[in-house]
Amino acid sequence: MNTSYNDLVQQTFNFPQEDFKVKDNYLQYNDLDVKALIDKYGTPLKLTYLPKIGMQINKAKKMFESAFKKHRYEGKYNYCYCTKSSHFSFIVEEALKHNIHLETSYAYDIDIINKLYEKRKINKDIFVICNGYKQKPYTQRIARLLNTGFKNVIPVLDNKEELKAYKKSVKTPFKLGIRVAAEEEPNFPFYTSRLGMRAKDILEFYVDEIEGYEDKFQLKMLHIFLNKGIKDDVYYWSELNKVINLYCQLKKICPELDSINIGGGFPIKHSLGFEYDYQFMINEIVRNIKVACKRNNVQMPDIFTEFGSYTVGESMAHIYSVIGEKMQNDREIWYMIDSSFITTLPDTWGIGEKFLMLPINKWKDDYQRVTLGGITCDSHDYYDSEEHINEVFLPKLSPEKGAEPLYVGFFHTGAYQDQISGYGGIKHCLIPSPKHIIVERDKNGKLVDWVYAKEQSAQSMLKILGYM
Ligand SMILES: Cc1ncc(COP(=O)(O)O)c(C=O)c1O
Repeated sequence: MNTSYNDLVQQTFNFPQEDFKVKDNYLQYNDLDVKALIDKYGTPLKLTYLPKIGMQINKAKKMFESAFKKHRYEGKYNYCYCTKSSHFSFIVEEALKHNIHLETSYAYDIDIINKLYEKRKINKDIFVICNGYKQKPYTQRIARLLNTGFKNVIPVLDNKEELKAYKKSVKTPFKLGIRVAAEEEPNFPFYTSRLGMRAKDILEFYVDEIEGYEDKFQLKMLHIFLNKGIKDDVYYWSELNKVINLYCQLKKICPELDSINIGGGFPIKHSLGFEYDYQFMINEIVRNIKVACKRNNVQMPDIFTEFGSYTVGESMAHIYSVIGEKMQNDREIWYMIDSSFITTLPDTWGIGEKFLMLPINKWKDDYQRVTLGGITCDSHDYYDSEEHINEVFLPKLSPEKGAEPLYVGFFHTGAYQDQISGYGGIKHCLIPSPKHIIVERDKNGKLVDWVYAKEQSAQSMLKILGYM
């Protein structure tokens, strides 16, 4: 009987895959020798593999190019990275190497824009799409950008009142977007998203508040973002088509309108069984927009996307050691990790997110069903099911003293986790943020690794807590 972990994977998935292979019984992630990094840096460990970011961006751009060719689409495509997914300078600067634009969510994002400009990572032609329900510090900063010559900063109005702030403070002609409030999926607690303006109010708002002021501000963009992402289902196509139809209606009376922004929401691989036809979805999006524009005899809009998870998610991994096994009854086996799920991968706890989980070693060993436990005192600090199956299987631990511990990797964890857990702040039970290693290519194309941040220290926490 075949009972090794390797057999389990071979029987369940097509394996090896482009980004995951096993060499000499150790897992390779994007051809990186993860075990060598563990030997060098120890665990728990956060690992950013920077080259993945450019690969993702260029893949999406190519697919849009191919869809535009296929459908003889007459607009342009603009790839934006939404900073909220990971604001780190090394991430944003890496993304910017690939000729992209940016999307912001809050006032302090604009300080990042200013810093990037100071560092000559961007110029004043870049599109900065400013989303969010904005308070004064945000609208003021947006106005300052516009007044200092960032001509493609586009505040996307979340509500009717927001325009007043720019009318008062922007001294130069500027572009505007409007976010269309999407209807939520039937299983969501609300009918309509709290974000954006009601679709049925937008035409009237345009006529009352924007039309006739074209020398001061012009409506350029309609924006939509669907919480559940870009999926091939009736809900997605129906919401997308609502915005496309609104674009066509508005375009007839607002000739300046020239862009549709479909937000983020491209999925990423959370399981070795992940199957998603990105090219098909892009083809369909482009086709839907084109067909509606032709039917209405209006110009095809430029298409903007704001991919966050897609850009940065697959560039990161969290690696833990299993530090002990506990059997609490006849059936439940716990593998305790040297960190916490709540504090390092908060989406696993907050919204039941699954990440791609694989052992780094012991692939030839027998496996068993386990639950992974974090070391906070919280009974919800656990991980017990995968994307493709409601269970977790991992190799058995070696009973011999001094044997190599089991290392477990959670992959594609690069979006939102540090932001939500509050990088460097106080953590549940004071479990420290793990050390963070970056792997990138040097000038000669050679992969090099370096420490971005050491494991969070007791002093740093005690300082925040007022003990020092
Ligand atoms: C307006 C907007 N654009 C883009 C994104 C990025 O979404 P994702 O990370 O799913 O690509 C979000 C995420 O919340 C968003 O609210």
